[in-house]
Amino acid sequence: PRGTARSANGVVTIAGVAVDELVHRHQTPLFVYDEADFRARCAAMREAFGRYGRVHYASKAFLSVEIAKWVEEEGLSLDVCSGGELAVALHAGFPAARIALHGNNKSVAELDAAVAAGIGHVVLDSLTEIDRLDAVAARHGVVADVLIRVTPGVNAHTHEFISTAHEDQKFGFSISGGKAIEAVRRVFAADHLRLVGLHSHIGSQIFELDGFEVAAGRVIGLLGDVVDEFGERAEQLSIIDLGGGLGISYLASDDPLPVAELADALAAIVERESAALGLPMPTLAVEPGRAIAGPPGVTLYRVGTIKDVVLDGGGIRRYVSVDGGMSDNIRSALYDAEYDVRLASRRSTADGVLSRVVGKHCETGDIVVRDCWLPGDLVPGDVLIVGATGAYCYSMSSRYNMVCRPAVVAVRDGQSREILRRETVADLLSLEVTQ
Ligand code: LLP
Repeated sequence: PRGTARSANGVVTIAGVAVDELVHRHQTPLFVYDEADFRARCAAMREAFGRYGRVHYASKAFLSVEIAKWVEEEGLSLDVCSGGELAVALHAGFPAARIALHGNNKSVAELDAAVAAGIGHVVLDSLTEIDRLDAVAARHGVVADVLIRVTPGVNAHTHEFISTAHEDQKFGFSISGGKAIEAVRRVFAADHLRLVGLHSHIGSQIFELDGFEVAAGRVIGLLGDVVDEFGERAEQLSIIDLGGGLGISYLASDDPLPVAELADALAAIVERESAALGLPMPTLAVEPGRAIAGPPGVTLYRVGTIKDVVLDGGGIRRYVSVDGGMSDNIRSALYDAEYDVRLASRRSTADGVLSRVVGKHCETGDIVVRDCWLPGDLVPGDVLIVGATGAYCYSMSSRYNMVCRPAVVAVRDGQSREILRRETVADLLSLEVTQ
């Protein structure tokens, strides 16, 4: 995996720290983040988009107090989508003015916490919520800055623009269905809300520019309608937020879009479409999560058992069981996600055997890597490294089967330090009311 190397004795090192040392100090399974790589990705985003607007790190990809500090220090803003993420960000001392709140069903308590903290803006997702936030802001005696999330009718996952298909989902207000302009009217009519922009998020793990371009064009088209209807009042809409979604390389065959190219292309289209409407260039905002947190993170597992299963056709499938699984990485089971896995604790020159890396959970679908080639001399005790697990693995982790969550460590300049400790049985028991 990226950012790793092998030392002379064949042991994988991450940012100068050898895997055997990491597992000795912190045990397995273990999430390891290369701090310099994470920060460099923040910096690259800031450089690419900074001159056009701003970058919000989508904290749903992975958040902890330490991560919030890195993001803050690298000059990015933060997107949170729940009261929990907001609380962690604020606890880390993240400046409230640089936080945006998302979600299709924010509770009154979450809106209340956001307004009380004085966050930058809330991204509104339903008519109910427009009224709800207006009331909350009124109670606090403030006017809250808001964006409206719209669905531009772009189906990014298939790279085909099937507008009707993609309107059929829970997020946002449909542009073509007239719901978006209705939401704009509702916000303009609300005394305690100030509409500062429009937001669209077309999907995740995207490798093509076209989807973003079409979305940008349609969002600016809506801005044009707003200008037509509201004239000078529309000038307060200064932000066009195109969400996250930049794809990363899980396998060598994945080909991510260069960040600078994406930034320039998006800025060009936003500028062109705005100019065509006689509007000034808006602030271009984006919300990458995976592209920042994914590649710098890896998971280390220890092999526990190895079993060869004879297949119907006569071949053999080798099941390599590791000490984690779907509780720390649900993505393979949920999305058929693919990962690169290697033997990390030693060098092997043995021939590869077609293997399946599975977890320790009581479920057949508990697969970490469905098909991979691992050395034929693999033995219990060996340590495997799974690459690019930094986004949506820890953040989607569970306690299924009451398996404790792994620790998370940051490595930098040959040093490792825990940023989240491993869960313990005491943590499991801490929720019990009757002990
Ligand atoms: N902004 C909004 C409004 C979003 O809904 C998301 C992701 C992002 C930004 C960040 O997208 P990214 O740059 O990370 O692609 N659990 C799935 C991914 C779900 C993404 C949901 N929203 C996975 O593991 O692949």
